[in-house]
Amino acid sequence: MAQFPEFRDRSVLITGGGSGIGAAIVEGFARQGAKVSFIDIAEEESHALADRLSRDTLHPVRFHRADLRDVDAIRRTVDEVVAHSGPISVLVNNAARDDRHDLADVTPEYWDNNLATNLRHVFFTSQVVAPSMREAGGGVIINMSSIAFLLNMPDFPAYSTAKAGVIGLTKSLAGRLGPDNIRVNCILPGMIVTDRQMKLWLTEEGIADTVQRQCIKKVLHADAIVGPCLFLASDCAAAMSAQSIIVDGGIF
Ligand SMILES: NC(=O)c1ccc[n+]([C@@H]2O[C@H](COP(=O)([O-])OP(=O)(O)OC[C@H]3O[C@@H](n4cnc5c(N)ncnc54)[C@H](O)[C@@H]3O)[C@@H](O)[C@H]2O)c1
Repeated sequence: MAQFPEFRDRSVLITGGGSGIGAAIVEGFARQGAKVSFIDIAEEESHALADRLSRDTLHPVRFHRADLRDVDAIRRTVDEVVAHSGPISVLVNNAARDDRHDLADVTPEYWDNNLATNLRHVFFTSQVVAPSMREAGGGVIINMSSIAFLLNMPDFPAYSTAKAGVIGLTKSLAGRLGPDNIRVNCILPGMIVTDRQMKLWLTEEGIADTVQRQCIKKVLHADAIVGPCLFLASDCAAAMSAQSIIVDGGIF
C-alpha cells in the first residue's frame, strides 16, 4: 500500500470499523501510523481487531463501543476520542446495515430505525466532529454510500433511500464546511465480498454473475476500498470536495 506521511500521528475516526470494509479501512490508516479510533456495536469482532492490529502498529488501535443510532452516545464517544487522541483529522462514516425488507412489511418504526442506522448518524457524527476539525485547521470526511440505489434493487427501499441521502448530505456538508478547510467526499462501493455478505446474501452464482458484469473480472474484497479512501483523505486529493467516487470494478 502507498504511504502517505501526512497521516502519521493524526487522529482518525471510523464508524462501523469492527468488520468488513470498515475493518480494512481501520487497518489501512493504522498501517500509515495514524492514531485510529473506531466505533462499533459488535464487541467480540471489534476487540479482536483492535488487539490484532495493536501488536504491530505505531499507535494502539482504540475500539469504542457505541450504538450510532444513539446521538448522545455519538457525542460522548467523539469527546472521548478527541480527549485521548487529539482533534480528529479524518472521519470515515462507514457504518450501515443492508437489511432486506419487503415494501408491504415496512412500518414507520422500521423505516425510522433503518434511516437511523444508515443515514442519521452520518449527519450527527459529522456535526460533532466538525468543530474539532475546524480547531485543527481542517480535516476530511468520507462517507460510504453504495451503488445499490442506482440499480433499481427491489429488496431494500429504506437502505437505498439512505444511501442516496448520503450523497446529498455529502454535497451539502462539503458546501458548509469547505470554508473551514474541511473536505467532504463519498465512496460508492459495488459488490464487496465480506463475511456478512457471504453469510446473508451472496451465492457463488451471484458473485460470478456480478464479476461477469464488471470491466475488471475479479472478485472485490474489502481492501479494494482502502486505497480510494486513503487517497481521498490524503493531500493528493486536496482540491477534491463534494465528489462521489464509484469503486465497483466498472459494472455495466
Ligand atoms: N459490502 C458491500 O458489498 C457494500 C456495497 C456497497 C456499499 N457498502 C457500504 O460499505 C459500508 C460497510 O459495509 P460492509 O459490507 O463492510 O458492512 P459490515 O456489516 O461488514 O460492517 C458494518 C459495520 O457497522 C457496524 N454497525 C452497524 N450498525 C451499527 C450501529 N448502529 N452502531 C455501531 N456500529 C454499527 C456493524 O457492527 C459492522 O461492524 C456500509 O456503509 C455499506 O452500506 C458495502
